Order: sequence, then C-alpha cells, then structure tokens
Amino acid sequence: MSRVAVSVEGLGKRYHIGHTRERKDTLREALTAALRAPHAWLRTRRRGREARDETLWALRNLTFQVEQGEVIGIIGSNGSGKSTLLKILSRITEPTEGRAIIEGRVGSLLEVGTGFHPELTGRENIYLNGAILGMRRHEIDLRFDEIVAFAEIERFLDMPVKRYSSGMYVRLAFAVAAHLEPEILLVDEVLAVGDAAFQKKCLGKMGSVAREGRTVLFISHDMDAILNLCPKALFLSNGTCAYMGPASEAIHHYLQSVRPAESGVVDLRNAPGRDSEEYPILTSISTHRPDGSVSSEFRTGDTLILRVGYAVREPIKAPYCMIHFLNDVGHRIMSVSSTHDHCDLSLEREGTLECRIRDIRLREGTYSIDLAIGRSSPVSECMDYVESATTINVQLGDYLGGGRLLDHQGVVAQKSEWSSLNNAMAVVGDSIVGPSRYVGLR
Ligand SMILES: Nc1ncnc2c1ncn2[C@@H]1O[C@H](COP(=O)(O)OP(=O)(O)OP(=O)(O)O)[C@@H](O)[C@H]1O
Ligand SMILES: [Mg+2]
Repeated sequence: MSRVAVSVEGLGKRYHIGHTRERKDTLREALTAALRAPHAWLRTRRRGREARDETLWALRNLTFQVEQGEVIGIIGSNGSGKSTLLKILSRITEPTEGRAIIEGRVGSLLEVGTGFHPELTGRENIYLNGAILGMRRHEIDLRFDEIVAFAEIERFLDMPVKRYSSGMYVRLAFAVAAHLEPEILLVDEVLAVGDAAFQKKCLGKMGSVAREGRTVLFISHDMDAILNLCPKALFLSNGTCAYMGPASEAIHHYLQSVRPAESGVVDLRNAPGRDSEEYPILTSISTHRPDGSVSSEFRTGDTLILRVGYAVREPIKAPYCMIHFLNDVGHRIMSVSSTHDHCDLSLEREGTLECRIRDIRLREGTYSIDLAIGRSSPVSECMDYVESATTINVQLGDYLGGGRLLDHQGVVAQKSEWSSLNNAMAVVGDSIVGPSRYVGLR
C-alpha cells in the first residue's frame, strides 16, 4: 500500500517587503535608531501599520500530496514560490499558515549557503549533515568515500567550506544530500552552478535515488530535465497549485501561461518570463516574413526573420544573441546563435538585431521562443534572458510533397530523396558496389 511522504495542507507563507529593510528587528537597533533621529522614529511609528501591511504571499492555499517513491518536478515562473515551498519542507523557514507533514528523513540541496556551516571543513560538514539526518557515525563512515569521490573535492576536504568556490560547494552539497540516504530528496535548481558534466552526473544520481524508491522533489526551469526525471509535476503559479499531474501536461499548462497572448511584435520590457534580477536589455521581439511583414504564421521551408530590440546602458563590444525554439512540451528543438556564424556585432545604446533563418525545418506545431543576450568575451556571460518571449505557429504545408508526419516521427521535417536499387548491382558514382558490400554503404 502506498504511503504519503509529503502532505501539504492550506500552506501559506507571507513575507514582508518594501519597508522591511527599515524595520528594526532587535530592540537595540530600534532604540539606537530612535535616539539618533527621534522625529523620524515617531513618524515611522505612526506609519507603522501601513508599512507593516506591505506584505507578499509567496505561497497561499497550497494543498497537495506526494506518495512515497514519487518523483515530482516543480515548475513555475520566477517568483512563483517554488524555492519557498522547498524551504518550508526542509524546515529552513516556517509557514505563516497551513501545515506540511513530512514522513521520513529529508536531504536537501536548496540554495548555496544553506545546510553547511561555513567555518567547518568539508569533512566536518559531511558528518554534521549526516548527524542532522539522524545517522550514526559508522553509517556516515560507510558513505564517506563515495561522497568525496562523487564531489571530486578530495584535495579540499580539510579546508573550511567558506573558502570553496560556488562550484565546489554545490558539488559537495549535492553529494551529501544524495548519498546520505535521505528518504525524501529536495533539490532546487542550484545544479545550474555546476558544469555540464557535473549536472549530468547529478541528474543520473537523482534518477538512481528515484529508482531506489525514494521520494524526490526537484525544481527546475529545464523542461527536458523535468521530463526525463519526473513522471509527475506540480505547476505553481502565484504561490498556488495551478496544476499537478503528468509532467508533460504540467509543462504544457506552464508554457501556455507564460506565453504572451500577443505575437507578432512583443514588448519585452515587462515580460513575465524574465528573471527579475536582470535589467531588461531585450526590449522587443518580432517575427517577419521575407517581405518584412510581421507574422507569426509560417510554413516548414519558409524563411523566418526575427528582429530583437535591445537597449544597453554601456556598449557591448563582443555580444552574442541566442534564440531557442521550444515545442509544446518544452523540448528545445533548435537554437541559433549570432556566434555560430561569427557575426561581427556590437551593441550601442539601443537598436535592433535581425536574424534570418532560411528553410526552417521545424515540423508543424506551436513553438515558443526563448531569447538570451550577453557578452561573449572575455568570458561568456548572459546579461538578459526572456523565457517564452514570443511564439510562432508552423504548418507543414506541402514541404514533404503532401507527405505527413505522425506524432512519434521525430521533431524536425527533413526532405529525403529515394530511388529503387532493385538490380543486383548498385552503381554509386564511378564505382560498382556489389550486394555484399552494399550493406555498409553510407
Ligand atoms: N526572504 C524573503 N523576503 C521577502 N520576500 C521573499 C523572500 N524570499 C522570497 N520572497 C518572495 O517570495 C516570492 C517567491 O519566491 P521564491 O524564491 O519562492 O520563487 P521561485 O519560484 O523559487 O523563483 P525562481 O524561479 O526565481 O527561483 C517572490 O516574490 C520573492 O521575491
Ligand atoms: Mg527559486
């Protein structure tokens, strides 16, 4: 019989925002401030109620259950409450209302900075985390070498973790969270800090944790990773559950919600899909036909022109712009980049970049477009990213000479030429290839 591992009932978390920086959390701070500026203190006292009322519900009325052994993806736009949820489940923060009941030992990898004591060495932190998970010393001893090998930090084991680079830190934190045999593993998308090889290793490890029948809750903006790892997903929107069910359905609902209603010319300055910490360099996107007219309807084989508006505070000498095309379940089907063709671009104040894609091979469907812009040297750095900046619809038309593709027949439309070699000898160029060698012909 299945057992509930996580049960969340009417969960809510309220944060104070805006004026909170002025709020004095300790009596000493409040008194010192009052002595320094008594009038200001009186004014804030009078406005106190207003100031305190500026609150934000990061989570509200959230109810769901996770059964033991389920692997759940958590998706949603920036600020939708994903990290807050995992912080409550791992008891880093308290809920304001409602409750979360957790059955089992929780291992978590949330943000860099939680779970480890900065003054302690890597070695000491492994034991500390094991002890927090309720493990005995000899149980931790058994896992120790495996953790160190996975994290690849042997040389730094006796260094305080405050001196670790963020990459080393995440490696160790993930290794500890995944190897200390938690019954429930909570992972926020900190994996993004590691390099590609390490990310792959982490996803592999999460897969094996899941196969061992342990419960995993995994936040990611990478829809491919969610689809690969999680049969089921929770889609959070404004702090509440907008959908929970099969991952492909959840992704579909999520992408629909961030997709702008308009297409054609889209103003990106307040785009919902932007990571809020970046200042908006990408200001607009529009899709055009070769004659310059704005359109979001294309046919396979057409030329598609994208115009990307930008505004920068300082000129960027070696910029890059990247455009990703995602299908309706969030798979990145194709990416084009200004660096692939060694374009000599530079960004001055504001302007428009034009990208022309000839003979698009996308098969029929709706594609959502993610945009990235940044500098490519001295180090590659993404400076603005907008998820689901716009969408285009593609019809197959007569690209395949009237042929059709079934759902399972791949993600691109590719023309092919066929001929029948029905005699015993196949003639290729000048050489004659006998039937036995034909098998290996490329
Ligand atoms: N300590 C805090 N104090 C005030 N507000 C906070 C705090 N932590 C989070 N918030 C706010 O709560 C909301 C939800 O934040 P949360 O970090 O859970 O979002 P998220 O879904 O993880 O976003 P992202 O995809 O960007 O990681 C946001 O509006 C955020 O600004
Ligand atoms: Mg987060």
